[in-house]
This record gives sequence, C-alpha cells and structure tokens, in this order.
Amino acid sequence: MAKSTLSFVCQNCGAAYNRWQGKCESCGEWNTLAEEDTSGSVPVSIRSKRKGRTFALESLSGKSPDAPRLSSGMTELDRVTGGGFVRGSVLLVGGDPGIGKSTLLTQATSLLARAGHRVVYISGEEAVAQVRLRAERLGLSDAPVQLAAETSVEDIVSTLSEGAVPRLIVIDSIQTMWTDTVESAPGTVTQVRASAQALIRFAKKTGAAIILVGHVTKDGQIAGPRVVEHMVDAVMSFEGEGSQQFRILRAVKNRFGPTDEIGVFEMTGLGLREVTNPSELFLSERDLGTPGTAVFAGIEGTRPVLVELQALVAPTSLGTPRRAVVGWDPSRLSMVLAVLEAHCGVKLSGHDVYLNVAGGLRIQEPAADLAAAAALVSSLVNAQLPTDAVYFGEISLSGVIRPVAQTPARLKEAAKLGFQRAVLPESARGESGGDAGLSLNAVNSLTTLVAEIAARGSRSGESNAPAEKNATPARFRRGEG
Ligand code: TYD
Ligand code: MG
Repeated sequence: MAKSTLSFVCQNCGAAYNRWQGKCESCGEWNTLAEEDTSGSVPVSIRSKRKGRTFALESLSGKSPDAPRLSSGMTELDRVTGGGFVRGSVLLVGGDPGIGKSTLLTQATSLLARAGHRVVYISGEEAVAQVRLRAERLGLSDAPVQLAAETSVEDIVSTLSEGAVPRLIVIDSIQTMWTDTVESAPGTVTQVRASAQALIRFAKKTGAAIILVGHVTKDGQIAGPRVVEHMVDAVMSFEGEGSQQFRILRAVKNRFGPTDEIGVFEMTGLGLREVTNPSELFLSERDLGTPGTAVFAGIEGTRPVLVELQALVAPTSLGTPRRAVVGWDPSRLSMVLAVLEAHCGVKLSGHDVYLNVAGGLRIQEPAADLAAAAALVSSLVNAQLPTDAVYFGEISLSGVIRPVAQTPARLKEAAKLGFQRAVLPESARGESGGDAGLSLNAVNSLTTLVAEIAARGSRSGESNAPAEKNATPARFRRGEG
C-alpha cells in the first residue's frame, strides 16, 4: 500500500524533510521549505510489476544523421557552449529576472531560424504579443521562429512530436511548466523536476536540442534552477551588475565543452551586442591616475582579459575592520592581506579593506594575487601605480611570487591594448622575453613589490610604511620595439 508521501522540500536545493523548519540544513537558505507531494509520477503498482523491455545496444562509432552541433551564429554564445548546441542535449540558462535571458534567446533563435532551421520558442511567462514586441524592438520580426505561449508539458511534447523534429526548442521558463503526472503546483521542486524530466526525455528521443530558462530566486517562492542542474547536459549562468551594461554568460557545467569560458555581451537599446574584445570594454572607464587601481592581465577560458582591480584601504573606527570584496574570492583576499602583514610589514589590522573587480567580472584565477596586492598597497600608501603597467602572478604563503600559466598570451593582450610594461613573476621572464614589446619588471617576492610602490608614495614616511627598508627594487628592463 502506498504510504503518504507529503514532505517539506527546499525550493532552492531540493532537499526533503519530514517536518517544517525555518532553515534548510542542506543549502543554508531560510524560509525555502514548502509542503509537497513527492510520491512521484509512476504509480507504485506499475513501478513494481513492470517487466523491462529489451533495447538494442549501439557502438560508439555510429553515424548521426545530422551535424552533431548547431552553431548559433553568435560567436560569444558558441564559445561558451563549446561550438554550438549539441543534438539531443539539454542546456539550462540561469540568471536573475530581467538580466536578459529572453533577449539573448530571442536573438539566438532568430538567427538560427533565418539560417533555415526549425526553431521553436515556448514562452510560459509572456504572452505571444509580448514576445513579438520584443522581437520587433530587436528588429527580428521577420525571422521564421515558431512561437507559442504554453505551459503544459504534455501539450508541448505532443505538438512538437508532429512534423519535422525542431533543431532547437527554447522553454522560457522551466518554472512556469507543469505536467499532469504530479500533483504539486507549478514552480515547486516536484513540478520543475518532473517537467524537466519529460522535456529531457523528449530531447534524447528526438535529437532536438532544448534550452531551459531558469530564474534564480532569492526568496524561495519558486524552485531555483539548482534542482535541475544535475539532470541537464550543460548549465550556463547569465550574470551582470544591474546598473551596468555588461552581461557575462558563463559555463558552470558542460558535458560537451569547456567550463571556464565566458561570453561577454553588452545590453543596448537594440538588444545584446557581442563584445569580441572584452578587455577594451572592461578598461574603457578606467580611473586613470587614482591610487588603489591596478590592471590585471588575466585569462578567462582560452582568452586573455585585462581588467581593473580597485582597492580602498582606509583607517577604521570599528573594533573588527571590514573586509569587503566584489568579484574575487574573499579567502584569497584574506590570504594576500595576511602575507602582506607577515612578510612585508604592512600593518592592515587598523584599516578597512575594500576590493572591487571593475565591470562586474568575477575572477577565479590565483594569478590575480599580485594585481590585488599592488592595488592594496597603492591605496594604503596613497601612491598611484604606473597607468601603463599590467600585473599578474600568484603569491605563495611565504611571500614568493609564483609563475602562472599562459604568460605570452597575457603579455600580447597587454601590448595590443597599448600597455608599456608588465609586473610579473621572476621565473616568467625568460619564458617570453620582450616578444610582446613590453618592458618586463620581474619581481621574485612581494616584499620587492611593496618596496617599489612605497618608494612612489607621497606618504612613505608614515608608520604604515613597510618595515622592509633595504629591499632592492628590481630594475625595469626595456624590451625591444
Ligand atoms: P529580458 O530578456 O526580458 O530578461 P529575462 O528574460 O532575463 O527576465 O530583459 C529584460 C531587460 O532587458 C529589461 O530591463 C529591458 C532590457 N532590454 C534592453 O535594454 N534592450 C533591449 O533591446 C531589450 C529587448 C531589453
Ligand atoms: Mg524572460
């Protein structure tokens, strides 16, 4: 006999509990538990008695009827998916409401439809007229995208099973979909999961690629995309600072491509514009000549990206000074601060420290350590760093600057954007020489860098100045060209 399967399910992560509680122990979110019937879609009687049918086993080398990947025609989007949408794959695009997911997918589907593919756009959130209005604004009304405002998964699957198999289907959004097979209300974990499962089954059976849009929600009113993340082939998140025009599409998981690539877009009055050279964009509004800013020569995926790090170090009135960081790992900042204190005599315990990566980019590389340290010290001693220099290098706990990968690519990008010099790890110098035409300032320890910046400072005589007085600054070496 089937027992009652009512339980409390976290709408953020999907963890189930027997009783209600304020905080989800699995993901730590508050007020996200909602009562749901989790008995599943298959009646127990069928589940236990059904005999498995046999199926044919296939070889790895079989031929697929069509090109396995479908290029979207948007270079930045293709870069993140790893070269296009894979047949029969399901991709989840998550992001805050209003970030531009529908805009991105309207543009991508229109390009594909114009190229002659059968593309279907199912909107569960907006009426057909609203989607048309957006297309009109984007100048894409003439694209032969097949459009519907529907929310029933069964109806969608039956409709799409007729005629030629669509190459791409967009479901905007998965949180508005519902299936008859489960009782729960649309937007709950059980519904979102069951709907996603039905759509994934359809994609695998027919070979159509499906994009599921998922809203990231903070309040837990509707299930977050995390509950379907493990079911889909690829997860992309569409991010951006509300006030800024830049949007970054990031691969979080990808069974068919890299996960460290980013695609950069700019939201304009006429939709999303692809940004093929992100460095130019991130550096376009630089605070030239302000103490506390350093340009980091980073690598995102396969592409070098220059971005400005901004630091503010200010005396604190609090017992515990503030450490705030946007766009970088807070524990990485703590480590850099600790190394500055322990090895370079830079006292920061009486100061609030703020670090910000300009342009809304999120840096994950340890190579940003050196640029962060330079920006911090520059702000502390109120000394402006050279505006034509880029910084990169990893700082070890002993204060040694360690080499990082892809030095030539970083230098080349810096040279391309008109930078004259690079501050980099000692051991990286021999690697690429002055190929890029930059003068290289190789530093082997953080102490050297701190001494160099302090020497530029106008307030270097203050008590906060580095204790290491006799550190010899590495000489700038002019490269050819
Ligand atoms: P939308 O794609 O509807 O966001 P999502 O689907 O992620 O909720 O984008 C909504 C925002 O984008 C809205 O604030 C208006 C802005 N926008 C533009 O700035 N330019 C445009 O051409 C379009 C279509 C939208
Ligand atoms: Mg939308």
